[in-house]
Amino acid sequence: MFETVSTAPPDAILGLSEAFQQDPNPHKINLSVGVYKDAEGKTPVLRCVKAAEQRIVDNEPTKSYLGIDGLPEYRQHVAGLLFGDTIDAERLAVVQTPGGTGGVRVAADFVGSQFAGAKVWISNPTWANHPAIFQSAGVATETYRYLNADRTGLDFEGLATDLTNGPAAGDAVLLHACCHNPTGVDPTAEQWDQVGAILQQRKLLPIIDFAYQGFGNGLQQDAAGLHTVLRHCPEALVCSSFSKNFGLYSERVGALTLVAAEADAATASLSQLKRLVRANYSNPPRHGAAIVATVLGDAELTSQWHDELAQMRQRIATMRQQFVERMRATGVDRDFQFLLNQNGMFSFSGLNPMQVDELRSQHSVYIVGSGRINVAGMTEDNLPRLCDAIAAVL
Ligand code: LMR
Repeated sequence: MFETVSTAPPDAILGLSEAFQQDPNPHKINLSVGVYKDAEGKTPVLRCVKAAEQRIVDNEPTKSYLGIDGLPEYRQHVAGLLFGDTIDAERLAVVQTPGGTGGVRVAADFVGSQFAGAKVWISNPTWANHPAIFQSAGVATETYRYLNADRTGLDFEGLATDLTNGPAAGDAVLLHACCHNPTGVDPTAEQWDQVGAILQQRKLLPIIDFAYQGFGNGLQQDAAGLHTVLRHCPEALVCSSFSKNFGLYSERVGALTLVAAEADAATASLSQLKRLVRANYSNPPRHGAAIVATVLGDAELTSQWHDELAQMRQRIATMRQQFVERMRATGVDRDFQFLLNQNGMFSFSGLNPMQVDELRSQHSVYIVGSGRINVAGMTEDNLPRLCDAIAAVL
């Protein structure tokens, strides 16, 4: 039977990491997948994580299954980080998921199983995996405008027009809470307010992907857009992740948090979410969630985490600055100043697919086909070579 199976194309992001591994060039640079690198080009285990793991090794009572919805104390910390005390806990249903991707998938399954015919509206562009996840769950996607004509900032008028005129009542709209992937372009506070008002008026369900809390302007600051939308909309689905802000990529630790208008609806929704999880991966893994719960349950480790997160955020901001200056120094006819208004790991470089190919084949520099670069992969060491390569293909 299997002789009829055809080969699928490589993944737009993770496929590049595979190609990077196979590249023999000792000076190769990987700015494709969204993984943070320190000044030495390593993806470190945070010190607070190591300390928490030590405690877990010493004290873990059992490896028995978690509940379908995950570790209770972890779920409480997820809600705390997302909302503080702005939303009554009875209105929330939190499910621990395998990474933020798992959260998006359970959200997609929930929409698909509960709201037949509802479409999900995603920004153009968005994370390459978003449409695939919704389509795998049988949920149709449509797009709304996001970037302006020169692809350096937000086309807010286009976005507002599309969200006002496109979706039918009951459709869902996927928003990136901060550090928009792939562009790094986020709405202003005023624009978030207008988005919330449109969603409320048009009776649209916000699905908020929050994979980069703490990588924009700070843990609280990055949640401001989410809080604004929830001042307008009584219901939402929030997909969050500790891959980036705890550096727990391979532990696959994330969550889906459903915000309901009333406690009863939250309870009923939780039962449906658990049903979907049980039929998918049964129940989530313990270790990553135990790390997060250990750190956030201890004042000293939490403060250490805040410091380590701030260091990552500041290093990315410094690399943005240095990249812009260095590109200017190469004398190319393009100003990269716009990168300084963008948030998080990613920016759109404006490089076209031919230039992206040439970067890879001639210079062993790997960036995503759309022209997305991972600023968090730049180091003082690789910057000169990177900028020379970009100047050469420009
Ligand atoms: C990315 O966009 O590079 C990350 O979110 C990793 C992934 O799974 O694609």
